[in-house]
Amino acid sequence: MNSFIIRSFVRRSGRVTLAQQRALETLWPRYGVPASQTSLDLQELFGRTAAKHLEIGFGMGDTLVNMAKTHPEYDYLGIDVYRPGVGRLLLQLEANQLSNVRVFCADAVEVLQYQLTVSSLDNVYLFFPDPWPRKRHHKRRLVQPEFIQLLAQRMKAGGYLYLATDWQDYAQQMLSVLETSPDFINSVATGGFAPSAAPVERPLTKFEQRGLRLGNKVWNLLYQRQ
Ligand SMILES: C[S@@+](CC[C@H](N)C(=O)[O-])C[C@H]1O[C@@H](n2cnc3c(N)ncnc32)[C@H](O)[C@@H]1O
Repeated sequence: MNSFIIRSFVRRSGRVTLAQQRALETLWPRYGVPASQTSLDLQELFGRTAAKHLEIGFGMGDTLVNMAKTHPEYDYLGIDVYRPGVGRLLLQLEANQLSNVRVFCADAVEVLQYQLTVSSLDNVYLFFPDPWPRKRHHKRRLVQPEFIQLLAQRMKAGGYLYLATDWQDYAQQMLSVLETSPDFINSVATGGFAPSAAPVERPLTKFEQRGLRLGNKVWNLLYQRQ
């Protein structure tokens, strides 16, 4: 059992708009998955057999909606703890009449530990996880060996793990954690970082756009579960 804890977020209260609040009340029963310590049957949850993809820390949800719209043949799970973002995602799911997305408002580490089962996921996306720039906070970063081992256990062989960050020092940490993992192989033939996020249809996220405006570089990583 992987019973480690990573405090990768602080509970931000954030302003929930009226529309988001309404969504959290009325749309949650349709798309939301309550946090629990009971394992889930994903085929039952979506009512069909289809590849299952997970986005961890979807923020405001734009990437998730974009992927789900582009690939109605796949099912998507999104996890975030930020209520305004969850509300906004719910509104977008309804506006786009998407039936292939389910949402958790919970700690991704716990969802992976308790609710998602071994070999249940195809692809996993982790875009711009909180960088925790101070050295004494590095232990709060999600990408570290225990977490990557847990992800590997929940993924199927052949599935892809996509990561992106605009924080160089975190990018190096991601690379070193994944290069030393026995469970993943780098999909870039030459090794190192991926040239771009090209294999995934994703719009630039808000964080990415702001970073790029400030002249930040973005590092992408693409690994395959062995
Ligand atoms: C820097 S933001 C990036 C959001 C989005 N991926 C983007 O690129 O715009 C990181 C997100 O991860 C979420 N997060 C951090 N740790 C988490 C955890 N353990 N479980 C779920 N969500 C988490 C935060 O609430 C936040 O929305």
